[in-house]
Amino acid sequence: MDNHKIDQIIDKYQGEASSLIQVLLEIQRKHNWLPKEALERVSEELEVPLARILHIATFYKAFSLVPKGRHTIHICMGTACHVRGAPRVLDTVQDLTGINPGESDLDLKFSLETVNCLGCCALGPVVEIDGKTHGKMGPADTAEVLKNYE
Ligand code: FES
Repeated sequence: MDNHKIDQIIDKYQGEASSLIQVLLEIQRKHNWLPKEALERVSEELEVPLARILHIATFYKAFSLVPKGRHTIHICMGTACHVRGAPRVLDTVQDLTGINPGESDLDLKFSLETVNCLGCCALGPVVEIDGKTHGKMGPADTAEVLKNYE
């Protein structure tokens, strides 16, 4: 992400230090993570100490300080999903992507996370990809759905 793009985001918020979280959210959304160079630029332009920005970036789960895949897969491992076969769905995703929960693949295509409930237990096992919910998933359905992501 070059300085020009970061400056455009900062300008959108009139360079106000009070817009720090919105600026960080927009960089995260556009870039999938917060590179250190981007944070240094934000610090300089908004006149907010880098230490404060890093504190915020590590505090909120919405931010990542390491590269993330273009697509984020959340697999629910809560009780309702677990008893209906979530572990087999997780195995399938791990086999197909080659990554474990908390990791991203080298091509930065996918990041994988497990969660304890996605709030739609009746649909278990539930897989959420980029915020889209896929219910009643088995290993074959999961493999089919993953093919749709580039
Ligand atoms: S336990 Fe999986 S959605 Fe609630």
